[in-house]
Amino acid sequence: MNSFDNLAGLFHLLRSGEREYLLLKEVGSFKKTDKILDVGGGTGAVAIQLAPFVKEITVLDPSKNMLAKIKNPTLKKKVGSAQKIPFANNSFDVVYVVDALHHFTNGHLKHKWEAQMNICTKELLRVLKKNGQLLIVEFNPETFVGKCIAFLENKIIGFGSSFYSPSQINNFFSKEKVEVFHSDKFCYVAKIRKK
Ligand SMILES: C[S@@+](CC[C@H](N)C(=O)[O-])C[C@H]1O[C@@H](n2cnc3c(N)ncnc32)[C@H](O)[C@@H]1O
Repeated sequence: MNSFDNLAGLFHLLRSGEREYLLLKEVGSFKKTDKILDVGGGTGAVAIQLAPFVKEITVLDPSKNMLAKIKNPTLKKKVGSAQKIPFANNSFDVVYVVDALHHFTNGHLKHKWEAQMNICTKELLRVLKKNGQLLIVEFNPETFVGKCIAFLENKIIGFGSSFYSPSQINNFFSKEKVEVFHSDKFCYVAKIRKK
């Protein structure tokens, strides 16, 4: 069971996703013909706002309870994780990850986190079409608020989350074109173009 299975009701109640959607929209470019994958998309709070402007969005998440909160039939849902994305190579014009990358540690111990990220980054790029955009909205652990969130998630809640700085994102995707936008005081949006 994914730890978000127990949090789905509360998360759905509290999450508007609007702020994250605006950050995503500011940096990404979306077309009416785009096929999009929202990895770690949870209850679809971000996807539902983007859906009217694109062709199709699939929300991928390991938590069945989070996905069960999605009632809007325009969104496709799929159970699965970033470690093994259940889609063929080059399937999507845009892949995005909002407030979820730090959870891709999948409960592994710290010494395995980098290996998990290397698996996930390969998977995210694999399902993206050439020249497609991978967008990542994340808390910046180099900011005060970012540090507080990391403390809360790891020391209080016990999620075992790993927050990556913009320079670590650059390293993970060093073979691609990476741009990082510091859109607000504690989040960044990374735009990675698949070469
Ligand atoms: C904080 S929620 C964010 C949900 C959504 N992106 C949003 O912004 O509303 C993090 C999500 O990441 C998912 N998650 C955890 N581990 C994952 C993994 N290995 N692969 C994909 N998603 C994962 C969780 O199930 C959860 O739904």
